[in-house]
Amino acid sequence: MAHRWKNDLTRADVTPYSSYMNRRQLLAGGAALGLGAIAGPGMAATDLEPNSWEEITTYNNFYEFGTGKDDPARHAHQMTTTPWSIEIGRLVDRPGTYDFADIISEMTIEERIYRFRCVEAWSMVVPWNGFELADLLNMAGVKDGAKYVAFETLLRAEEMPGLRYPVIEWPYVEGLRLDEAMHPLTMMATGIYGRPIPKQNGAPIRLVVPWKYGFKSIKSIVKITLTEDEPPTSWNKYSAREYGFYSNVNPNVNHPRWSQAEERRIGGGLFAKKEPTLMFNGYEAEVAALYDGMDLAKFH
Ligand code: MTE
Repeated sequence: MAHRWKNDLTRADVTPYSSYMNRRQLLAGGAALGLGAIAGPGMAATDLEPNSWEEITTYNNFYEFGTGKDDPARHAHQMTTTPWSIEIGRLVDRPGTYDFADIISEMTIEERIYRFRCVEAWSMVVPWNGFELADLLNMAGVKDGAKYVAFETLLRAEEMPGLRYPVIEWPYVEGLRLDEAMHPLTMMATGIYGRPIPKQNGAPIRLVVPWKYGFKSIKSIVKITLTEDEPPTSWNKYSAREYGFYSNVNPNVNHPRWSQAEERRIGGGLFAKKEPTLMFNGYEAEVAALYDGMDLAKFH
């Protein structure tokens, strides 16, 4: 594999597929994406094994397709993802509309196995394929003065039935501080399990910020803007008291309506014991320095 970020989840943690056919597809997809060797059945089984393809692709939040967990899997097929381009602009040296295929041809696709913790207190472990957001930002050239990165999801009412309901203000928007965006853990995902990322998971390209609550990881991105000021973000606009701009995973700062101390691992079954939520979702050693001296309860 090209590179593996030093976290405690490795390829060896992957659970083999239950079905032989799926495993064959995984290997084929991995080869096509230029991934390295994939662990054999003997190497599996830690308590941090990735969730199954089935779990990752049928239990989703993608409100543009409805608010039910199975709505995205049922409706996202309506979204056209080819051609696809991302408009990158404002404080960059090379603003423009970048074709998805051109971006991919410039990037080294690698695999990262990350914990994924939703603000709703469920979690998964996902074997993503993708590249560092920093590489994309450097491709566009970040100008002095840029302090934040704003992201926007596709807005296409005829293909997104959820847009009929004003659950949040559309389009879905998110943002990061520039140093968070440039952090080597922050990635743009284009695949899962060596296959192209399914539409319900944010095809063809979505953000993954593993130390923040899942809603920061905005899907199906069409626009990236480098800005001087903190950009508005969807859930913060919905309720600033409940969803801060930072939204770092933090077991000590509860959501006003529920505890964030524990999480329910998807796939564990109805009676599975909840697991303790880890500071910064387990990435404290890598990212805590980004927030040195900050009051994490205030800047939640
Ligand atoms: N991005 C868009 N555009 N729309 C959404 O509704 N939901 C967010 C995030 N990105 C969402 C989104 C939330 S709340 C979570 S937990 C994750 O996507 C879910 O990602 P997954 O379905 O791949 O697990």
